[in-house]
Amino acid sequence: MSTASAPGKIILFGEHAVVYGRPALAVPVTQVHTDVEITEGQGTGIRIDAPNIFLQTQLSALSSTNPLRSVIEKTLQTFSISASPALTIRILSTIPVASGLGSGAAVSVAIIRALAAHFGQAIDDERVNQLAYDVEKIHHGTPSGIDNTVITFAQPVYFVKEQPIETLQVLRPFTIVIADTGILAPTRESVGDVRKLWASNPKRWELVFDKIGEIARAARQAIQNGEWQAMGALMDTNQALLQEMTVSSPELDKLVVVAKTSGAEGAKLSGGGRGGNMIALVRPENAEKVAFALLDSGARQTIVTVVQ
Ligand code: PMV
Repeated sequence: MSTASAPGKIILFGEHAVVYGRPALAVPVTQVHTDVEITEGQGTGIRIDAPNIFLQTQLSALSSTNPLRSVIEKTLQTFSISASPALTIRILSTIPVASGLGSGAAVSVAIIRALAAHFGQAIDDERVNQLAYDVEKIHHGTPSGIDNTVITFAQPVYFVKEQPIETLQVLRPFTIVIADTGILAPTRESVGDVRKLWASNPKRWELVFDKIGEIARAARQAIQNGEWQAMGALMDTNQALLQEMTVSSPELDKLVVVAKTSGAEGAKLSGGGRGGNMIALVRPENAEKVAFALLDSGARQTIVTVVQ
């Protein structure tokens, strides 16, 4: 059996503006992950077994634009494997879907690496990242590439679209509480709506994106200087700009307020918005209190993660 695993991720700063060339910061979340196991199958063809999404099917029965089919076919092409091998690919994931934790990219990265292990192929991180990015385009339309990058490299990243990856040196670890609104929100839709806003008044929205870019740069400095508390106010300002962009929601806003009133240093939505997850920067001793308050106010799930 060949196996591979990929973590989830959260965006700390810069979502949406990153699609327009501004920097964003994202970190892996290892508490959630996608695990892929590949075994020799019987008969012919590739069988997919993904119990979390109640999917059990032959690969050939999926539509040609299905991201699972696409990542498997693209990877086999990369390895110059033309005949359809007899395999069972089992996908197990604890990353909630459509909630800003990078489930789609994690599935792609884990499948690519499991197939590489199965066929004894060496594949470097850049190639994994590129393949996963090609598949992200099917999920999102115009993705920046931040999800596949942070998940492939599994390190905190300072990301600028189409620029070489820059990993972040975290001088002092900091603690984030992640809370899920439980509302599924496809990123493609919020990205499309921001595109419409931008098209209606590019000058105005370019200025907003500039401000978000400045926030991401300031946050990088704070992280690299070990001044993590400085990120609290930066998160609050970033959240206000995301609200202006109409990608927050009453549920996200409520959890942001609850996080702040229960002791967080700062809080904001994370990812595409409109639902999915929010994040709160906390002193380690406050993590449990903030997480409880969020659950008490309707969060479906919370994860406490230390970024280091
Ligand atoms: O919803 P997520 O976590 O996949 O993040 C999307 C981030 C956006 O900036 C909104 C889109 C993108 O492609 O970067």
